[in-house]
Amino acid sequence: MTMKGLILAGGKGTRLYPLTYTRAKQLIPVANEPVLFRVIRAIRDAGIREIGVVVGDTADEIKAAAGDGSRWGVELTYIRQSAPLGLAHAVRESLTFLGDDRFVMFLGDNVLQGGIAPLIQAFASSEWNSQIVLKEVADARQFGVAELGDDGRIERLVEKPAEPRSNLALVGIYMFDHSIAEAVRSIVPSTRGELEITDAIQWLIDHGKSVHPYLHQGWWIDTGKPMDLLTANDCVLSEIEPAVLGCVDGESRIEGLVRIDRGAEIINSVVTGPAIIGERARILNSRIGPGTSIYHDVQVINSEVEHAIVLERSEILDVPACIRDSIIGRSALVTTRDEHAPMENGRSLSLELGDYSRVFLNRAAFQK
Ligand code: DAU
Repeated sequence: MTMKGLILAGGKGTRLYPLTYTRAKQLIPVANEPVLFRVIRAIRDAGIREIGVVVGDTADEIKAAAGDGSRWGVELTYIRQSAPLGLAHAVRESLTFLGDDRFVMFLGDNVLQGGIAPLIQAFASSEWNSQIVLKEVADARQFGVAELGDDGRIERLVEKPAEPRSNLALVGIYMFDHSIAEAVRSIVPSTRGELEITDAIQWLIDHGKSVHPYLHQGWWIDTGKPMDLLTANDCVLSEIEPAVLGCVDGESRIEGLVRIDRGAEIINSVVTGPAIIGERARILNSRIGPGTSIYHDVQVINSEVEHAIVLERSEILDVPACIRDSIIGRSALVTTRDEHAPMENGRSLSLELGDYSRVFLNRAAFQK
């Protein structure tokens, strides 16, 4: 039976400001691969060829980046959502594309360990109307939450409850048959004004449909906040295939899981993995520490970077402190300069920051 894929890549992404001020959040790379591309690969690897991509205001950017899907051997159909009115609203606006086929819906900002092929196979060969993926989490308040009965069946789903009655969060992967169409047409907006997918699934349960829960064992990260991106980066980096495709000079040392892409140069530097250095990046007289993704065309000179994501074309030059736990956007510059009159105590910063930028200084280092 053919199954389709549906990736949700619309929405606003305000929680990832400033990074998403000028870019779709689904295109932010983790271990140098946009999260959306990882999602497309996971669906492709499960044997699905026809994939709908729901897009919103950032449609042009997403289309330019992912194209027609032929790079992955899939066929992408873009579905323009009229407004970001919720996940169930996105399904409602995709019904023409979906037809009567069974499908897997994957949120375009979720990063998950392992593939989804076994999940898809189990659903494709079952009579279930829906399958949802659950994961035990420490704090379920920021997610959809499932309450199971003693028999393991789902009793209730609640979106972002203030006081969760279970620690089982809904992972952003859902499988449905055609019965979801009636559900998304029947529900009404939640108090936050969205058509919630949790309400649509609850509708299925209330109308006697079978919704099968699958407990995910590996790691899973919803890249909702900037620090989640660093956590997702750590997880994905810990699974990379080490390779040296670029140049490493005799004065440099590469330790641990490290991938150095084509055209990258490592000169008189130390790179300690897990880390990835993108194409044409240049690392000179520097130290790159664990948990770092340096993207294409970045320069790091006379500096130290550890546990960080540095996006394309940025430059880190002559910085006298280690840059860590940091996310640096595209074409940014971090450096020192002399032309300002020094403060009496020698401490001053000169900043040119874009809208919604954030700077975190180590308080201890600046205390008298
Ligand atoms: O990540 C898992 C969680 O995802 C679940 O536990 C929740 O039950 C589910 O509601 C969802 O919550 P979020 O608040 O994280 O959803 P978010 O608004 O971040 O949207 C998820 C993705 O869907 C994101 O890639 C943007 C896209 N989207 C979102 C909305 C609201 C759309 O394409 N259209 C939309 O209208």
